[in-house]
Amino acid sequence: MRSAIILAAGKGTRMKSSLVKPMHKVLDKPMVEHIVDNLKQINVDKIVTIIGYGSEAITAYLKDKSEYAIQEELNGTGKAVSYATQLEDLDGQTLVINGDCPLIQPKTFQMMFEQLQDAKMVVLSAVLDDPKAYGRIVRDQSGNFVKIVEAKDCDDQQRMIKEINTGIYAFDNRSLFEYIKELRNDNTQREYYITDLVKIFSEHDHQVKAVVIKDPDEAMGINDRLELYQASKWLQRKINQYWMRNGVTLIEPEMTFIGPDVRIGEDNIIYPNTFIEGKTVIGSGNTIRTGCYLLNAEIGNDNDIDNARITDSKIGDKVKLGPWIHLRMNCIIHDGNRLGNFVEFKNTEFGGYSNCAHLTYCGDATIGKHVNMGCGTVTVNYDGVNKWHTTIEDDVFIGCNVNLIAPVTVKAKAVVAAGTTVTNDVGVGEMAIGRVRQENKPGYGIKYMDKEKIKK
Ligand code: UD1
Ligand code: CA
Repeated sequence: MRSAIILAAGKGTRMKSSLVKPMHKVLDKPMVEHIVDNLKQINVDKIVTIIGYGSEAITAYLKDKSEYAIQEELNGTGKAVSYATQLEDLDGQTLVINGDCPLIQPKTFQMMFEQLQDAKMVVLSAVLDDPKAYGRIVRDQSGNFVKIVEAKDCDDQQRMIKEINTGIYAFDNRSLFEYIKELRNDNTQREYYITDLVKIFSEHDHQVKAVVIKDPDEAMGINDRLELYQASKWLQRKINQYWMRNGVTLIEPEMTFIGPDVRIGEDNIIYPNTFIEGKTVIGSGNTIRTGCYLLNAEIGNDNDIDNARITDSKIGDKVKLGPWIHLRMNCIIHDGNRLGNFVEFKNTEFGGYSNCAHLTYCGDATIGKHVNMGCGTVTVNYDGVNKWHTTIEDDVFIGCNVNLIAPVTVKAKAVVAAGTTVTNDVGVGEMAIGRVRQENKPGYGIKYMDKEKIKK
């Protein structure tokens, strides 16, 4: 049985925020979700998140991705662990992770479990030029790990130590719950420190190890917004380097933001000032130009996408989107379409090989193949109370500046003349034309212009 406890009950005072610290985002995900997702990658059986201050924000977001335990009194990281009573009687191994360490990678968690083979407690340490306010790893003359001393409790000599506690621990689960009862709060902060377990385990003749992490940035603990930025930058570079080594051209990676759960095929070119987030999946051969925001988008192959905001929607192959287009709430855009400039689609299926090239809104519509949507077409889907559906079948030609008052159907091969407001269904091959007849008045133009001149 492999379990994990995430400590996320603290206030995070230095964030200066009404939002609890573990919910602040690194790239597109809250810190605590990074930890949970990375743990799930190595198939941890049980995850318990310790919550307290601002707990609703965490439970509402993570839902059943984690179990929870509520720490009623914020009296230290040691006490926090003891609230995970779900784990109390289990055999196996347990990781304890500070909720403000979002960058720890799955292989590091895996390594921590493996290090437990010849120890009952393992601490992940790091060597830093500036050990800041981290707890110090104290070793004896032969290099054996003796104890952790919190920065606030250090003497001058201990304060010089550059090996620090990252706040990531692995335990033999039964020993953890046995010895946690022996913690005392006789320190500067009157708190129960999880770090005191090092001494307690040693006193009971159990092997305790501190393992140094290679890249100390991976173990960064985030306390304020500057560190939040630094963590985001670290992850952004790691992700972008990965994609550049896997066939994706990033014109300027420092200005390209790709979330950890995004998947991208080969031979894509991505321009800067682009955010690709959530569970977005991108095929191959696409050009994603500047100013795109893609969230939970499914993009096929060989598309050209420019200044597009695409959320929870699916794009086929060989589509030209934008510049300036907004696709949201379950749009399905089939192969070979052309959409944009200034087009918004909501919950609409479109195409293939159809055009909607300028200034159009389609909401709650199903539009067929080889359709032309003229400039300024609007599906009038909302009557102030309900939303209604518009259907446009294959080979329809919609002229410019047409309102389609839903619910309405335009059948195959029909034509709707420019300027028409369509209130009734249009039959197969029919032409709908509904506009006020034009009247031309001789001489009126010149008279009108003269009046204008007189005014000035
Ligand atoms: C802790 C370690 C320190 C280590 C550092 C690494 C202790 C005593 N010290 O210090 O050795 O170098 O992390 O970043 O553990 N929390 C609770 N309940 C509490 C108190 C804290 O859940 O009662 C949670 C916080 O939400 C946070 C984590 O535990 O996610 C760490 O707490 P924090 O106060 O940030 O500890 P540090 O002072 O950074
Ligand atoms: Ca901290």
